[in-house]
Amino acid sequence: MSGQVRAAGAPVAPDVGAAPGEGRPLLSLRSVRIGIRTRKGAREIVRGVDLDVAPGEKVGIVGESGSGKTLTVLSVLRLLPDPPIELLGESIRFDGDELSKMSEKALERVRGAGIAMVYQDPMTSLNPLLRVRTQIVETLEAHGFSRDAALARCREVLLQVGLSDVERVERAFPHELSGGMLQRVMIAMALSVGPRLLIADEPTTALDVTIQQQILELVEDLQRGTGMAVIWVTHDLGVVARLVDRVAVMYAGRIVELAPTRRLFSRPSHPYTRALLGSLPHRDAAHRRPLTQIGGTPPDPSRLGAGCPFRPRCPVAVERCAVEEPPLLDRGGGSRAACFVEPELWP
Ligand SMILES: Nc1ncnc2c1ncn2[C@@H]1O[C@H](COP(=O)(O)OP(=O)(O)OP(=O)(O)O)[C@@H](O)[C@H]1O
Ligand code: SF4
Ligand SMILES: [Mg+2]
Repeated sequence: MSGQVRAAGAPVAPDVGAAPGEGRPLLSLRSVRIGIRTRKGAREIVRGVDLDVAPGEKVGIVGESGSGKTLTVLSVLRLLPDPPIELLGESIRFDGDELSKMSEKALERVRGAGIAMVYQDPMTSLNPLLRVRTQIVETLEAHGFSRDAALARCREVLLQVGLSDVERVERAFPHELSGGMLQRVMIAMALSVGPRLLIADEPTTALDVTIQQQILELVEDLQRGTGMAVIWVTHDLGVVARLVDRVAVMYAGRIVELAPTRRLFSRPSHPYTRALLGSLPHRDAAHRRPLTQIGGTPPDPSRLGAGCPFRPRCPVAVERCAVEEPPLLDRGGGSRAACFVEPELWP
């Protein structure tokens, strides 16, 4: 490609949320930076993430392994393994309150009732030594439910997540349940207190495709019934296609494209997004390939050189890309992309 560059629009101020007029965002990340402490000082892994999530909105965070998805969502509830990972960034607000500066006690109230998380590995949030009922009931009691109300709510949520033999599941220890059942139990536990935001970090990776689809449909149904907002973190752009309103594509510790889902699929504005879409040859989930089949490997975000981090893999790079990292630029239609070259100029 020649050296001609046209950057559409001005760099975007960190207005990276839902459409104007929708009121205060429920969750608002501003310049979130996350570092890893080493003997030589802190190196940045997440390098300035701005993201708003409106009440009831569903947002997908997509990217290859190591792009910083998990660290970004863990930072919201201050769950980073500190040390060696530390939050350097500016602001994380939930319903107007600054979470990064909140006392541990106040944050404990936000965890569960305000924001619930479902982790990559069910065993991260389930205690292997306690029966399912004990774990859910204890969570509810910690949030002020009486014993009787907690027992009733436990049964209700297990039914809601589509578990049929609820009595057996209630009595079971985690190791007595299948992977799909454990995911449902985790989602039941996360939803039990009635959170306003559910953050799900690849809860389906370890499951077969049929169960993945069932879990996705389940969360979609529950979301519709409650008006809860959802952040869905995944490697698989195909997975979020059906589920979310907007998609944030992460690469090397930054959001490189943020767009309404339909727009992202019909007119990707970052070459990386286009490559991700190209790696989804089948609409049929059973034939979906993982994103990592894009040529080249993602860089270590803490060891970046000058210029655009995607340049070594980018088919449309121009000279400027070697010296400058592009900011998020407005591409119209609610889409923003961190790329110097407009899609119209891509070969
Ligand atoms: N506890 C840790 N100590 C050192 N480095 C870490 C730690 N946790 C994460 N990292 C590094 O931070 C980077 C981002 O990690 P993160 O887990 O956020 O990626 P991810 O996008 O969630 O990847 P995946 O899709 O594999 O879950 C990776 O390069 C990873 O090696
Ligand atoms: S993705 Fe990066 S390297 Fe490729 S054209 Fe855009 S700015 Fe340049
Ligand atoms: Mg992860």
